[in-house]
Formats: sequence, C-alpha cells, structure tokens
Amino acid sequence: MSTWDGVAEAYRRSFATMCEGTVPRLLSDTPEGHHLDVGSGTGALAAAAAARGRTVAAVDADPQMVALSSDLSPGAVLRAALPDLPFGDGAFDAVTANFVVNHVADPRAAVSELARVTRPGGRVALTIWTSGTPQWARLVADAFSAAGVVSLPGQRLSPELDFARSVEGLRGLASSADLAPVVATELRMPWTIAREALWRGIAGGVGVAGRTLLAQTPGVRAAAEARFREATEPLSVDGVLTLQTSAAYVVAEA
Ligand SMILES: C[S@@+](CC[C@H](N)C(=O)[O-])C[C@H]1O[C@@H](n2cnc3c(N)ncnc32)[C@H](O)[C@@H]1O
Repeated sequence: MSTWDGVAEAYRRSFATMCEGTVPRLLSDTPEGHHLDVGSGTGALAAAAAARGRTVAAVDADPQMVALSSDLSPGAVLRAALPDLPFGDGAFDAVTANFVVNHVADPRAAVSELARVTRPGGRVALTIWTSGTPQWARLVADAFSAAGVVSLPGQRLSPELDFARSVEGLRGLASSADLAPVVATELRMPWTIAREALWRGIAGGVGVAGRTLLAQTPGVRAAAEARFREATEPLSVDGVLTLQTSAAYVVAEA
C-alpha cells in the first residue's frame, strides 16, 4: 500500500497549498514547449504550465491524484510510477517533480528516469523538503508530544538508496543522473493556511504526521487535536496561520 492511498482529497485541502508555493519558480526556470510534471498530485503545476501555453502531460502513481490532476489540467494525465515513465527518450523540453523524489523508493533511479525523458539541453526541476523541522511540523510535534502520541517505526530508505535531504543532497542526485545543475538553492516561502484546514489534513492521514495520528487511540487523537488548537489559537489571525517553510530546489540541464 502506498503512503498516498486514500489521502488525495485531504492533501488537496491542506498540504497541496504549501507545495504550490514553488510553482512560479519552477515554471520561470524551465523552458517553454513540451512539459511533463511527474507526481502531479492535484494538477496545480500542470494547469499553471498549460496556462502559459505549454503542451503538458502529467503522471502520478496514485489513482485518486490522477483523477484530481485530470480535473484541473487540460493535458494528458496518466497513472505511472517512477522509476518507469511511459515516454520515449528526450520527449520533453521541461520535466518537473515538485516534492516527489523525497517520496520514492529509489531516488537515483527516479531522477535518472526524469533525465531520460528530457531532451538534450532541456531542463529537469526538482524540489524536496529539507531534513529540518519546519514551523508547522514543530507545532504538530509539540501537540503530539503533549498528548502522548506514540511514534511509528522509522520509514527511512536504506543508506545505499537514501540521499541527504538538503540542497547539496538534491544537487548530488541530479549530478548522479548525468544532469548538469544550473540552479541549486533553498527557497523560503510563507504558507498561509486556515488552522482548521491544516488539522484536517493531518487528521485525514496526510504524511508521516497524519499516518502517526491515525495509528493512535481515539483518546490520544482527541488530546492531540486539543493541544494543537491551544497552541495555534494565539498564532492565528481570523483562524489563519502564516507559517515559514523552506525547500531545497535544483534545476539541471540534460
Ligand atoms: C507531496 S505530493 C506532491 C504533489 C504535487 N507535485 C504537488 O506539488 O502538490 C507527492 C506526490 O507524488 C506522488 N508519487 C509518490 N510516489 C511516486 C512515484 N514513484 N511515481 C510518481 N508519483 C509518485 C504521490 O502520489 C503524490 O501525488
């Protein structure tokens, strides 16, 4: 079972808006023409690329994400999973994977496949969350800790498959796929979200925090929710939080 099973709608209403923060930069740093978005999720990036006049294809491993992307993006949306894409060598001018290679079983094989489908001189653009604890995750971790939430067993990749979740780690991943990095930097973005929406995303099972919460007893879940509300009430304005996030970002030429 994939970690994205059954959470697409909860993701769309919560963490998807955080991931959308990188879309303008991903589009401005990649060439016009044929664009492939891999791990397309809600389809927001594919739709934005199409709105710029690009010919867009999108793929996602999860069938519910494929359905969401199909609703939003006018281009072809297929179900496919890295490291196997159903496209020929060099088929695209621009290939994006926004917060995807941090979720795959074999990141190096995944990025090699992204490179394969990019034409020589075309660009692959990648984002991941870095290994630190962002502001939203600190709020959730503190609420979990106060409520006595029990952590799930670690789900890290084996050391030979894993890579450092940092700008340097992502740059190294691109280089290992014979791509030439042209941008490698950290992107800092504010994320504005209603605190109810953030909690519903977690209670809907999104990400490690969501899976952890769903594994608790009803009493512990209720206590975690109460602690989260207490902690976020003074930080919110009219129920809305503005939180700082930071991503590693690499654009590389094929
Ligand atoms: C954090 S979400 C990002 C979604 C979208 N790119 C965005 O920016 O909102 C990760 C996405 O990657 C997809 N995914 C996970 N493993 C994948 C794989 N091996 N191949 C393709 N997509 C995958 C998930 O189904 C999910 O839609």
